[in-house]
Amino acid sequence: MSAQIIDGKAFAAALRGRIATKVAALRDAGGRAPGLAVVLVGEDPASAVYVRNKHKATIAAGMASFEYRLPADTEQDELLTLVASLNADPAVDGILVQLPLPPQIDADTVLMAIDPDKDVDGFHPVNAGRLATGLPGFVPCTPYGCVMLLKDQLGDLAGLDAVVIGRSNIVGKPMAQLLIAESCTVTVAHSKTRDLPGIVHRADIVVAAVGRPEMIKGEWIKPGAVVIDVGINRTDDGLIGDVDFNGAASVASAITPVPGGVGPMTIACLLRNTLISASRRQGVALDLAEL
Ligand code: GUN
Repeated sequence: MSAQIIDGKAFAAALRGRIATKVAALRDAGGRAPGLAVVLVGEDPASAVYVRNKHKATIAAGMASFEYRLPADTEQDELLTLVASLNADPAVDGILVQLPLPPQIDADTVLMAIDPDKDVDGFHPVNAGRLATGLPGFVPCTPYGCVMLLKDQLGDLAGLDAVVIGRSNIVGKPMAQLLIAESCTVTVAHSKTRDLPGIVHRADIVVAAVGRPEMIKGEWIKPGAVVIDVGINRTDDGLIGDVDFNGAASVASAITPVPGGVGPMTIACLLRNTLISASRRQGVALDLAEL
């Protein structure tokens, strides 16, 4: 193995520490603690774990955590009523409705009902549009965490060839937008892409977000590339990424492990967005460069 292993867990812990310091400063200045509302519908076990971890991290950062657990048979209108009350609640700076939602609920309808200025997931079409046009808004947490790790590793990303594998609204598309904003040359590959190995092989930066265990092979990676593995695939062998880790680690200059790479960055960036929201809503300036 030649690649450096990118320690997302340590990076995220340090980021959460900086956020906690800013929260304390906001309160010292007479401000209100940032408030994050998380809504879980049903009992999907993976979602329950995420929601519990979000709650713990929110409290640890000195923020207020409002948790709503609704039964799996909740009607869409009931959820929309809850979202409307959270939109109107001045103590709530961020609203997150955990996905996936049960089949009787249309996720797009619910996400569009969230006030875009409390949409700390960055999933509302208004925030997707803001990201695409370079306006301030909320950026989805997982891709933003990936960019933080990449900039920490590489410094300026301008001019680098980046390949994003996956075109989801949650990771692939916002990831591509963020890399464009960093002046990378961006290719978005997906299930219909021809010659994926050839496309991956020309990339200085590879971001894998397909949800298929070890689909990206080590021999596809250009020597010296930085590999960011967003995949979290639950298999009989435990959590496995989208990248053949051992193969890729023998040629890449740096790679994120699964677990302990991108995963911990998501919650840290969610807290970052919640702090940004609270500072905007309370009219307190925040030096984002320090976050
Ligand atoms: N389910 C898995 N990841 C996420 C996330 O980042 N946000 C929401 N709302 N649901 C998810």
